Amino acid sequence: MQFNFAEPLLDWYDRHHRVLPWRVSPNDQANGVVADPYSVWLSEIMLQQTTVKAVGPYFERFIARWPDVISLAGAETEAVMQQWAGLGYYSRARNLIACARQVAKEHDGRFPDTAAELEKLPGIGPYTSAAIAAIAFNESVAVMDGNIERVFSRLFAISTPLPAAKSEIRAQVVKAVPTERPGDFAQALMDLGATICTPRRPACALCPFTGQCAAEKAGTAETYPVKPPKKKKPVRRGAAFVASQPDGAVFLVRRPTKGLLGGMSGVPTTNWTVREDGATGPEAAPFDADWQEMGTITHVFTHFELRLDIFHAVVTLPVEIDGRWSTASDLPGQALPSVMKKAIAAALPNAFE
Ligand code: ADE
Repeated sequence: MQFNFAEPLLDWYDRHHRVLPWRVSPNDQANGVVADPYSVWLSEIMLQQTTVKAVGPYFERFIARWPDVISLAGAETEAVMQQWAGLGYYSRARNLIACARQVAKEHDGRFPDTAAELEKLPGIGPYTSAAIAAIAFNESVAVMDGNIERVFSRLFAISTPLPAAKSEIRAQVVKAVPTERPGDFAQALMDLGATICTPRRPACALCPFTGQCAAEKAGTAETYPVKPPKKKKPVRRGAAFVASQPDGAVFLVRRPTKGLLGGMSGVPTTNWTVREDGATGPEAAPFDADWQEMGTITHVFTHFELRLDIFHAVVTLPVEIDGRWSTASDLPGQALPSVMKKAIAAALPNAFE
């Protein structure tokens, strides 16, 4: 007979759950408050790439401005991209809009209530579909994220390295998911992974699974999950060209819709080729000006590290390429990806103050 993991975990969650803006606490649930699928979906999409702490203010702003899926579906794409700026991975924001519009149009504004149906929507993969189904609709499905993988790889001292270990870990999670409160079960594991069963120096003495955890008993919790040998990220090189006017206005272009940071505003750049030897000097500038070298910035994307040489010129003549001038005072409010803010700040250190 398998140990009932849900019982001690849910007891622990009732007492120690984190209070999060999108979460309905066990107490409120007992008083009849039910989760809002739109809030659950929005928070899960935002949390795909960012920490709980960073997502909070973005989530609150989205909910204040677009309180339901119908209002988000009717929003201007650019307005949503602007609110999203800073959360990164802009394809997720585009999928967010596409998903809202599909739910509004094809599902009468109601999210489907099973993981299988949710996964057919844009931007919703196996993790997100399971999380929404469990948290918003109480479907008894296994939710797998990094925290949950860590907890279960330790509980069973799974020695296979990731990602091969995922199927073994999943088999254990499937067995442990309760039929009652599967959403709280998933969120409890996330909280446990974030606060107790942490990657380094886990607080095993405070864990509801003490005595039941194979890695804790062996004193080897920190060695799980076993990781494969690390590969170095490839380096891409390019140049960014920050043109400003004497009054501090900055020249911005819109990036092509396809590709990384697609459709976002930024300063003109060269292509970010995989080569290390592409033209990245002032000869690659989009127009003639007195370009000055301002050093190099580094930005780490998921699959590569980007090193951008920054050039700055004060421009008084009209610019012949498509784009617009953002006044100095408008600049901090522009929908600019972090790498673009870094590039501008390298040329104009006070631009965002
Ligand atoms: N990370 C992703 N989804 C989460 C959730 N619902 N609660 C806490 N952390 C999370």
